[in-house]
Amino acid sequence: MLQLAVILPTYKERNNIAHMVERLNAALHGLVWEAIFVDDNSPDGTADEARRIAREDPRIRVIERIGRRGLASAAIEGMCASAAPVVAVMDADGQHDPSLLPQMYDAIISGDYDVSYASRFAEGASTEAWGRPDRVKASGFANALARRVTGVDLTDPMSGFFMLRGETLRADAHRLSGVGFKILLDILATVDRPLRVKEFPLNFAARLDGESKLDRTVVFEFLIGLYDKWLGRIIPTRFALFGTVGAMGVLVQFAVLWLVLSGVLHERFVYGHWSGSEMAFDTANTIAALAAMTFNFVLNNELTYADKRLRGMVPLLKGWAKFALTCSIGILSNIASADALKRAHVSDVIAVLVGIVLASVWNFALSSKFVWGKYG
Ligand code: GDD
Ligand code: MN
Repeated sequence: MLQLAVILPTYKERNNIAHMVERLNAALHGLVWEAIFVDDNSPDGTADEARRIAREDPRIRVIERIGRRGLASAAIEGMCASAAPVVAVMDADGQHDPSLLPQMYDAIISGDYDVSYASRFAEGASTEAWGRPDRVKASGFANALARRVTGVDLTDPMSGFFMLRGETLRADAHRLSGVGFKILLDILATVDRPLRVKEFPLNFAARLDGESKLDRTVVFEFLIGLYDKWLGRIIPTRFALFGTVGAMGVLVQFAVLWLVLSGVLHERFVYGHWSGSEMAFDTANTIAALAAMTFNFVLNNELTYADKRLRGMVPLLKGWAKFALTCSIGILSNIASADALKRAHVSDVIAVLVGIVLASVWNFALSSKFVWGKYG
């Protein structure tokens, strides 16, 4: 009888798959297990590599998601795709030590615990081999914040290595946010009854091959998680982020406009009013708009879509061009709708605001599909 499923979300881990399977095989000796790689259509052929191994070893399974990205949602879908009574999630890059799995399993099966997890910061754990003191620090901060705000008292609630009963997960799976990567914290904060958690110290290793996809965003990710839990149902998290970035973009546009006009052409300012030619103003404003748009693109790429971040010169340039196209149509619809409302005798402020909201929704919908999404 199938006892345990190990879910391994992957994105660009081709060279780590075979090694991971070998280690699982050695560690899980004596258990009836399966491993499910949940790959988001990695360009390096990770899914193909996993399928190659799966053809020879039916304990290995592959879920390939097309047009999707995200560690948390991959983990949730993998866990829901197994009939095993107990499910685990871990990194596929060799950073999580599979030899902890049997002890984690025993803790769940004993009935004394609902969740087992491996902590990078428990007594006896270590992060030296990780070789990333910056990330150790950021994780420490995020964890402290998590403890304070959610009341979840673990040494490492951001850990990506944990195990629980499938039914525990499924009971609340529909209420999990699935955004980002703080999945364990999400589970603990979502499930109403307190879960009994058993902690295992982890020697967090350096990754075998490839690079981290979650760099730089741990603390930010955590704040997003909080927002998501509190207000995410009213204004979806990504849209809230996109809107916030957009509002900052407006400030950038004014700042750049002011800089260009006052810096380059300052003699044309009379009592704070522009008295130069229309053309100079239009040129300055175009520069300002482009600057604001580029600022928005960069920030959205770093924050709003950190989990699907575009990297490398060509993808970035392509993304920027598509974003620019989306926004220019957004601006036209903004102006057109405000104009129509004004003619219908709606007050100026309302007309402008409605225009802005419409354009934001448009920009968000299109760019989430065409710049950072399925058709990106
Ligand atoms: N399917 C899928 N989709 N998998 C992904 C994605 C994605 O968008 N992003 C990352 N992964 C996979 C990676 O391939 C890897 O197997 C695992 O998720 C963790 O990603 P890493 O890029 O290795 O993350 P890390 O090592 O920097 O982050 C560590 O710390 C986080 C908390 O600070 C890991 O231990 C994470 O699990 C942990 O949440
Ligand atoms: Mn990793």
